[in-house]
Amino acid sequence: MDLANEDRRLLCEQFPRASTYHPDWVVESVSGGANALWLTEWLTAGLDLKPGMRVLDLGCGRAASSIFMRREFGIQVWATDLWFGASENAQRIRDAGVEDGVFPIHADARSLPFAAEFFDAIVSIDSFVYYGTDDLYLNYIAQFVKPGGLLAIAGAGLMKEMGDAVPRHLREWWTHELGCLHSATWWRRHWERTGILKVEVANSMPEGWRRWLDWHQVVAPGNAVEIKALEADRGKNLGYVRVVGRRQPDAKLSDLNMSMPVQYTREPLLRSGPDQRALTGGANSPSKRRAATRRTKPQSGRHAAS
Ligand SMILES: C[S@@+](CC[C@H](N)C(=O)[O-])C[C@H]1O[C@@H](n2cnc3c(N)ncnc32)[C@H](O)[C@@H]1O
Repeated sequence: MDLANEDRRLLCEQFPRASTYHPDWVVESVSGGANALWLTEWLTAGLDLKPGMRVLDLGCGRAASSIFMRREFGIQVWATDLWFGASENAQRIRDAGVEDGVFPIHADARSLPFAAEFFDAIVSIDSFVYYGTDDLYLNYIAQFVKPGGLLAIAGAGLMKEMGDAVPRHLREWWTHELGCLHSATWWRRHWERTGILKVEVANSMPEGWRRWLDWHQVVAPGNAVEIKALEADRGKNLGYVRVVGRRQPDAKLSDLNMSMPVQYTREPLLRSGPDQRALTGGANSPSKRRAATRRTKPQSGRHAAS
């Protein structure tokens, strides 16, 4: 290659595997968040993914992370997303030559079409904050990973919890939904207190805020507000976090989808008083309506015989 004309966008020593992918392909796959390949390389570094493993890529966006994991580790990936369609992702997967091992699925993370304990690992890149902060969600998602399997997430987050006041230098950029961003310590507690997972990794990316800025300068150089916020913050609050937990074989998951018997038995609403009418004689009660009909029935004349 002519080194003088080499496209150096997105080349990064921190991410040697991701740096081999063409910057045009990476930029075309942008799904509104971070550089999916950088985060996936960082997250998967300690996962020990082996060929043939079944992995759910939850909230995969345009499936760049799914294609990357298939190519780099030989695993089978169920590329699952809500905002991006399975047909578009199928084309990208086919063009990348990995349709034998990446399966595009359109589904909501809260209503997944998979069998219990189907996956060896669940990976989620810059997506888990959209649903995973719900206190009950871990109990739901954990059913899809085998006991002893992994749940691993990476994405934009905080270096420490902020409290109620957003720092002055972030206020122009901040919007209320960014309240879903949390620190690695927050995630550790959120998962470990359930007893469902044992957290093996919970930390932030070294120089993560710089990578966030580098990426932004390539894909959204016109977004001056976010760039200004990152430059002013210099990693004090903003960066990337990752958390890896292992499903504990002895942890019992609760069945939150219990169906109750459908049977209605009519009972008085109140103990006593005029509101007993609700059941025993209110103007609209069935018995009162029947009585009223009888009283107003004509007793003579044209309708006498009716
Ligand atoms: C910021 S994008 C990141 C996409 C991709 N993982 C990446 O890193 O480029 C967030 C993704 O989360 C997905 N997402 C949000 N809520 C979801 C839900 N309830 N179920 C499934 N996916 C969801 C969106 O469809 C979107 O693609």
